[in-house]
Amino acid sequence: MIKKVAIFASGSGSNAENIIRFFSGEKNVIFPFILSNKSDAFVKNRAEKLNIPFIFFTKEQWINGEILNLLKNEGIDLIVLAGFLLKVPSELIEAYPKKIVNIHPSLLPKYGGKGMYGMKVHEAVAAANEKESGITIHYVNENLDEGEIIFQAKCELLPTDSPEEIAAKVHKLEYEFFPKVIAELL
Ligand code: GAR
Repeated sequence: MIKKVAIFASGSGSNAENIIRFFSGEKNVIFPFILSNKSDAFVKNRAEKLNIPFIFFTKEQWINGEILNLLKNEGIDLIVLAGFLLKVPSELIEAYPKKIVNIHPSLLPKYGGKGMYGMKVHEAVAAANEKESGITIHYVNENLDEGEIIFQAKCELLPTDSPEEIAAKVHKLEYEFFPKVIAELL
């Protein structure tokens, strides 16, 4: 059966691109669009290159249910948040139980919650001299970064690792595992 996946991204979109490329030979998995709350995010360029429609939406459209209607009308089966930074409204969570997944660039529950995203996470990890970091893929619930954990992977850190070096290690894990976990969920 054909599965339709909606990807949301707010920034660079390297995970979004990696996921779409992973499934490019798979006719039963379709990405009808990439959605973003940032009209000028780099993920827009990636969407164009991948020939996938890019949909920009405002916070108002996110909250008033327009995006939920769009997802329903398209018959979306799974929602993937790949570097997406808006809180998910409860109507959307209720409409897609265990069908919204997020990736977070740390070993949750460490370094999660409000204000903890992207490089901010890696800066905090470096400042705390952590010996390891990693990724968490989890279902989305009402509380930021607190939904049920589906998968985690770790990487070792050196005392000399800069936030950028930590980010590179974490991105490597994201590229390797996020598409595979999505494939399992479909
Ligand atoms: C990824 O590292 C992802 O884990 C993180 O943002 C980055 C997006 O990179 N997500 C969060 O911090 C969510 N709280 P990308 O746009 O290149 O995929």
